Amino acid sequence: MFARVARFVRGIRSNTPRPSRRKGPVDDEDALRRCKRLHGLAQIIASDLDLERIVQSVTDMATEECGAQYGAFFYNVEDEAGEAYQLFTLSGAPREAFEHFGLPRNTAIFEPTFRGKGIVRSDDIRADPRFGKNPPYYGLPQGHLPVVSYLAVPVVSRSKKVLGGLFFAHAEPGRFDENCEDFVRGIAAHAAVAIDNAHLHRRAQIELEQRKRAEERLELLLGEVKHRYKNAVVTIQSIATQTFKDASAEAHERFGARLSALGKALDLLTTRDWDRIAAADVVTRALAPFDSGRRWSANGVEASLSSDSSLILSLALHELATNALKYGAWSNGEGRVDVSWEFADLERTRLRIHWQEIGGPPVSPPERSGFGTTLIDRALGGPQGSAKIEFAPDGLRCTFEVPL
Ligand SMILES: Nc1ncnc2c1ncn2[C@@H]1O[C@H](COP(=O)(O)OP(=O)(O)OP(=O)(O)O)[C@@H](O)[C@H]1O
Ligand SMILES: [Mg+2]
Repeated sequence: MFARVARFVRGIRSNTPRPSRRKGPVDDEDALRRCKRLHGLAQIIASDLDLERIVQSVTDMATEECGAQYGAFFYNVEDEAGEAYQLFTLSGAPREAFEHFGLPRNTAIFEPTFRGKGIVRSDDIRADPRFGKNPPYYGLPQGHLPVVSYLAVPVVSRSKKVLGGLFFAHAEPGRFDENCEDFVRGIAAHAAVAIDNAHLHRRAQIELEQRKRAEERLELLLGEVKHRYKNAVVTIQSIATQTFKDASAEAHERFGARLSALGKALDLLTTRDWDRIAAADVVTRALAPFDSGRRWSANGVEASLSSDSSLILSLALHELATNALKYGAWSNGEGRVDVSWEFADLERTRLRIHWQEIGGPPVSPPERSGFGTTLIDRALGGPQGSAKIEFAPDGLRCTFEVPL
């Protein structure tokens, strides 16, 4: 792209005579040529997203077209932290000619440009009442390139933000006419659009980069959480072994199984997307430990669950599955369990899950309830919930809902 711009500008240099002082009527041919150049430049910078190249093309062409001895574009940029600073690009003069003067200060002469108030064009800037009024130089600093003819055009974005200013100078008076002012005004408008686009592009790139870094940090954190959680489970297990020394082996086993179900549910949350998990994944994972020789099916709509809902669904399924093994469809080696789910409402804010046992021994309502049914009642019942356990003779049925 840069080569294209350079060729373009070189082509113009060789084909066009340096514009001299134009004070007569506007020449049609000249106007058409300028129009074409403006159009050409607009096309080039509109397809570019590199800020430096855009400002360089703009400065080169405007300096060339106005017959300025040198031109500069001071433009505002933001760093990654959003701090504003100013850069400049030059045409017709080496960088060293400007570098030691620092950036233009907020003097009376520069004010209309940097505040986006309007164009300043002067046949002899030394005669301007605003010139030379500010310390420390009171005019041009010593060693500065001569400035007599002066043209300064603000570059303002669609949102009225001042993006920078274009400045042109000549050592002789009366070098910049109205046509030249119009041309630079046109260039400034195109430049504003191109710079806006380049800023947007850069911001999008920064955001992408930041998101990537945040994801990496999250991944690291997730690994750490998982590691700590596993350590905590081992600690709980050994505390339980110590505390329930006198309890039966069966009680030990049940506690261990529940702890491990909780572990697997949490594992699921850390190995997959942190907060959304497919319902099918939760069901399959919860029933997988009961797979050997047990028969079950899982069918339902495609839905993803929040971490809270996945956790409670995993624990409820674990309790239902252990009960099926102890008392229900899986206790006689013949029965089976069908798990299915659907959206509970049109807005799809809740998921309804059905647990159906078939082919087990005849079922009658129990006289006592233990941890399993209490968990389902407490966690999924209540005024908001809708857990229902039916001890039907041909097999236990349980329906409950979780929020999506
Ligand atoms: N799938 C089932 N088929 C037949 N009866 C069941 C089934 N599930 C539970 N029951 C009956 O309901 C009672 C209560 O179950 P619950 O899960 O609350 O307690 P538990 O399994 O006996 O003990 P815990 O769950 O505390 O280990 C059981 O004792 C059993 O009689
Ligand atoms: Mg139970």
